[in-house]
Amino acid sequence: MSDTAADGGWVPTLPVEEIDSEFPSMVTADGVEMVLCRSDGGFFALGNICSHAYARLSDGHTEGNQVFCPIHMGSFDIRTGEAIASPCYEPIATYPTRVDGGIVFVCPVANPPKS
Ligand code: FES
Repeated sequence: MSDTAADGGWVPTLPVEEIDSEFPSMVTADGVEMVLCRSDGGFFALGNICSHAYARLSDGHTEGNQVFCPIHMGSFDIRTGEAIASPCYEPIATYPTRVDGGIVFVCPVANPPKS
């Protein structure tokens, strides 16, 4: 069985009311660790490990469309995984999300990198 979003490989994570707009949550789907963020634009899943020095972004916080690393305060765009603030320069993977029945589902197959 395939685990792609196109084939329905969605994994349930948390109820929407448990996902805070300031403090993201760590979730795992098929062994892939992600940080789940909430903004006015919806729910977004990214790789949980900072591309600077391997801190867990789920220990950081979110402001608008950015998630901030807890160690050196670098940040990433939660919609695209793009590195925004120094000392982060390398992007991180993003993953598809959808909401069904009040639950946020993620797909453990990363979105294609933005060019
Ligand atoms: S470990 Fe994330 S900014 Fe340094």
